[in-house]
Amino acid sequence: MTTTSSLRELDRAHLWHPYTQHGLAPEALPVVSGKGALLELEDGRTLVDAISSWWVTLHGHAEPAIARAIAEQAQRLEQVIFAGFTHAPAAELAEGLVAAAPRGLTRLFLSDNGSTAVEVALKMALQFHQHRGEKRTVVATLEGAYHGDTFGAMSVSGRGVFTAPFEPLLFEVARLPEPVDGDVLGAFDRLLDARKGEVAALIVEPLLQAAGGMRMWRSELLGALSDRARTAGVLLIADEVATGFGRTGPLWACDHSAVTPDLLCLSKGITGGFLPLGATLATERIFEAFRSEDRLRTFFHGHSYTGNPLACAAAVASLELLKAPACMAARDRIEAQHQRALDRLSASPHVRNPRVMGTVAALDLDAGQGYLARVGTELARHARERGVLLRPLGNVVYIMPPYGITEAQLQQAWDAVGSFVEQLP
Ligand SMILES: Cc1ncc(COP(=O)(O)O)c(C=O)c1O
Repeated sequence: MTTTSSLRELDRAHLWHPYTQHGLAPEALPVVSGKGALLELEDGRTLVDAISSWWVTLHGHAEPAIARAIAEQAQRLEQVIFAGFTHAPAAELAEGLVAAAPRGLTRLFLSDNGSTAVEVALKMALQFHQHRGEKRTVVATLEGAYHGDTFGAMSVSGRGVFTAPFEPLLFEVARLPEPVDGDVLGAFDRLLDARKGEVAALIVEPLLQAAGGMRMWRSELLGALSDRARTAGVLLIADEVATGFGRTGPLWACDHSAVTPDLLCLSKGITGGFLPLGATLATERIFEAFRSEDRLRTFFHGHSYTGNPLACAAAVASLELLKAPACMAARDRIEAQHQRALDRLSASPHVRNPRVMGTVAALDLDAGQGYLARVGTELARHARERGVLLRPLGNVVYIMPPYGITEAQLQQAWDAVGSFVEQLP
């Protein structure tokens, strides 16, 4: 058994943490267990996980139904090559997701995470047009987007500190303005005019640009973009890696606009936060453009763990929990509590643009700007000292809790934000 001091030493000596500047960051906190919205640290302290551990913990930590499903599956079949073989957890997941997804998305391709779900969608879209003999190679994307950290996903993301070191190597995309205030429709129309027949796909984070700053945008715009794309033969890729599985209220952010995209990217909450899994749903029309007796028309993409039975079993169990009326009620309760907290906080001169969409609440602090604004790390520390895990995006503060969070725990999170805002100069 690793002791606490040796754990810390080993971490310091050998681990390289994500999105962490090791020259500045405080030591990583050893976590020993989790239950519901709570994380228990090795020194006995607890933290309310107000960000669902990077938005993945959907119901709660160590959710028993999901833990059981994984344990049972692990004793039957842990992994099998998914080319040429199939298994019940994948088939059940496909059935469940197709039934729950916007109508018309009938094919499920599995991968490992949000970035790969996006890569798969981009490659499917580009190859789809090739198979149809169309020279469409341009991907349109929105300013301020974040679609992941692999090269394709970075290429279609907004340019900024995350992508700067790789700038020369990212492929060119057509950039439309950011969707909150920008004239996206006008720009899309001009693009479709100027590059007629060249645009392959439009990729968006429906209604919520998450990592880009929790920017919430209008459902009418998504509807209009979807109509324009359809008319122009452009595939719509909805990246619901962050917004899927009820985060914004309904099951999918696309539901706010009654839009069915051509490709839907899912990950994060898909397994309830237990295991890595990416999913790309496609329409039958896209699938049919690949089905052929010609091997060259194969979708040459896969990962060693594609279709991992444990991850699929977790996802099936999570989907079951999502269907329970109690889950919808919990999301409504969280939204109402977010709204009350923001109503109080918005009286502060330091708080700008308070906003809520389902279980996601955010505000901007008028202290510094952008992802590197110091105020974010200061608030994270302040919250940690009050038993709350927050990870602001620079000056953008948000709360996105597991649905199983109690009212008192959510209040504790908002109190931590409130006491920080109060002491701002
Ligand atoms: C909308 C969106 N797409 C893709 C990703 C990438 O997901 P992952 O970190 O699992 O690769 C993220 C991650 O935050 C995301 O928010």
